[in-house]
Amino acid sequence: MMARGPALAAILLLFAAAAPLASAQSQFLPLLFSGDALTAEQAAQVAGVWEQVDGFRMDGSVLDDTLRQAAKAAAAADISAEDVDFEAVLANATSPATGPLSFKLFIPAIYPSTGAFGAYYLIGKPGEKPAVTRMLGMGASTNDGVLLVGTKDEDTGMWYGLVKDDDTMVVLYMEGLEAWDKDHKKVVDNQVVAQYQYRKLPSEEIKDALALVVAKDALEANESQQIAAADRKEHS
Ligand SMILES: *[C@@H]1O[C@H](CO)[C@@H](O)[C@H](O)[C@H]1NC(C)=O
Ligand SMILES: *[C@@H]1O[C@H](CO)[C@@H](O)[C@H](O)[C@H]1NC(C)=O
Repeated sequence: MMARGPALAAILLLFAAAAPLASAQSQFLPLLFSGDALTAEQAAQVAGVWEQVDGFRMDGSVLDDTLRQAAKAAAAADISAEDVDFEAVLANATSPATGPLSFKLFIPAIYPSTGAFGAYYLIGKPGEKPAVTRMLGMGASTNDGVLLVGTKDEDTGMWYGLVKDDDTMVVLYMEGLEAWDKDHKKVVDNQVVAQYQYRKLPSEEIKDALALVVAKDALEANESQQIAAADRKEHS
């Protein structure tokens, strides 16, 4: 739970920051198929190692729980349902991006003529070896910056990024599937909506990020090579 004031301020600030993102999303297909390649400058802006520095997330399970508690508290205090502070519920169900984990996103490159890119999330506690997961996506030029749309290999969500300049990216992430364990006691995959801000790290970070990606499937190197070989055979 977090204090209401800062959470609401964070929500309002980030919603304001995301307004251009929402309009850019609806224009994505025309932009992607416009035939306009990304410039070398835009491609360079996208590539590199990004670090999550701000933002918030709201989990569906936490929202349910917060709403239940607020209803219970209101009933106990003889407050009618329409007087429940639902904005405070939203604020209380929101958690800040700045937790114990460090989130980095390594984008080796974006292909200027098609907009295709691959990227890797490096997520872990500072000082410990992070988990490495993959993202694939497409990017297109907009008036607000380079809009990126992608999916992750380990989750069901849609990921949107807007690279606004050399070192600023805003991200919208939405995950729809909520999966429970067989006793319906624990959420094993959560529904979530999140907005984040990223800063580009110095290019020296690429060396370590690349080493982590290369080591990602080390134990199953043979297996992953075979999967890649089968995919190449079938799809190219
Ligand atoms: C929100 O959280 C604060 C601090 O924990 C608490 O005092 C308040 O009752 C909560 N309100 C709602 C509506 O959840
Ligand atoms: C990789 O797998 C193939 C097929 O199972 C096997 O023939 C080969 O010896 C393996 N290579 C290594 C280095 O383990």
